[in-house]
Amino acid sequence: MIQKPRGTRDLLPDYMAKRRAVEKVMLETAKAYGFGEVSTPMFEELELFTMKSGQGVIEEIYAFKDKSGRDLALRPELTAAVIRLYCNNMLEAPKPVKVFYVGDCFRYERPQAGRYREFEQFGAEIIGGEELPTNIEMLSLALDILGRTGAKGLRARIGYLDVLRTLFEELGVQRDKQGPFMTLIDKANFDGLREMFSDKGIKGPLVKVILEVSAMNGRPSEVLPKARELLKEYPRCLQALERLGVIVEGIKASDITAVKEVLVDLGIARGLDYYTGMVFEVDIPDLGAEKQICGGGAYALTEIFGIEATNSTGFAIGVDRLILGLENQKAFPAMEGPMFFVIPFKGTEAKAMGLLRVLRATGLSADVDLAGRSLSKNLKYAASIKAKFAVLVGQKELEKGKVVIRDLASGKQAELPLEGLMDAFRKCDWGPAAGGEPEDKDLEKKKTREWE
Ligand code: HAM
Repeated sequence: MIQKPRGTRDLLPDYMAKRRAVEKVMLETAKAYGFGEVSTPMFEELELFTMKSGQGVIEEIYAFKDKSGRDLALRPELTAAVIRLYCNNMLEAPKPVKVFYVGDCFRYERPQAGRYREFEQFGAEIIGGEELPTNIEMLSLALDILGRTGAKGLRARIGYLDVLRTLFEELGVQRDKQGPFMTLIDKANFDGLREMFSDKGIKGPLVKVILEVSAMNGRPSEVLPKARELLKEYPRCLQALERLGVIVEGIKASDITAVKEVLVDLGIARGLDYYTGMVFEVDIPDLGAEKQICGGGAYALTEIFGIEATNSTGFAIGVDRLILGLENQKAFPAMEGPMFFVIPFKGTEAKAMGLLRVLRATGLSADVDLAGRSLSKNLKYAASIKAKFAVLVGQKELEKGKVVIRDLASGKQAELPLEGLMDAFRKCDWGPAAGGEPEDKDLEKKKTREWE
């Protein structure tokens, strides 16, 4: 049998329900923060990704020629595309421009748990705002969204790339040549970093400072004073540390109850080449190597489209990784089935279909027997798809203008008139047959609410 491509997944209804639930939180929160949704193509001109990152990036993405011989790529992320969208369509829009997106990304990765070749990202970008408030707004949106999904024990690590970038410049390694060093720092491969320095004949005390800064992380109150002391001879680094301090204070003032720790991490280099100032990553516990569920920072990309430098900050959450983390934390409620399962009997099929249509027209969910099962098999099936109520459309009851509605959880049922069925059901106190008080008034109230 033909299998799906390596590193991709078939997603079943249970998983998709989780995705949609998480996306709903993301969309609603982003809208509440004043962001508008955008969408860009799944594939782009290859140059969009090589312009900033160089030809080396082709190894990591799905690049191909189309039938006209154009070089295209499946998008590995959306930030470059959103900046293209901004430069093409939104230059005249009031600043700052605040946009968000949800979409599939494709990377030629080595597949493993939590690392796929096709995965979904939710991301947001602010273009053209003041640096510090923009960074704080972006961080609080990311952390607020993660908190509202129910994620617990999150660790946010915040750094400021200007510190490392300035030190490399002091060493004579200009920004456009820093990529390979940053990649090693991003992977915390300090042996590789030492080797690269020695291969390139780069020596001196600054090498030691870079190695030391790359490994600096921990509580802001500890790391920031230590870094200030180490970097006191580099005014641009001190300025960067001061900005980082303001951002950390700013974010602490936001409502970020889901976050267990906000740490400073001067070794965050990020895997993508466009970052400049603040950078951050968020980890969720128990996901091992793929624990990073969110990453972002300030970046410069408008220049590659010939547009003057514009402050931009953004982040993206790996929706699938977040779902893995939430599953570990048992954060998802059990999946719900339809409200009603309509069971026709011989000769009542047409009436049952009519009733089904009426139920669905009220906006409630209703399913129907499509397999011609017996009553007992239908009741079993209805329970297995987690329907709440079965509607039994029997000939005898129909002749009296009635149907039976059965609560599948308690087994209690009532014969109710088709005329005004909703009203009768709403009043139904599950023991109606006994004419008594409902056994569980709260449950009854809940059911009534579900009908309103
Ligand atoms: P990124 O860190 O490359 O940043 O990706 C963001 C998130 O996508 C990661 O934290 C991770 O959760 C998820 N992710 C990345 N690769 C995979 C994969 N192979 N399988 C599953 N999940 C994955 C960006 O993409 C930037 N565009 C973020 C950004 C927006 N920066 C500024 N604006």
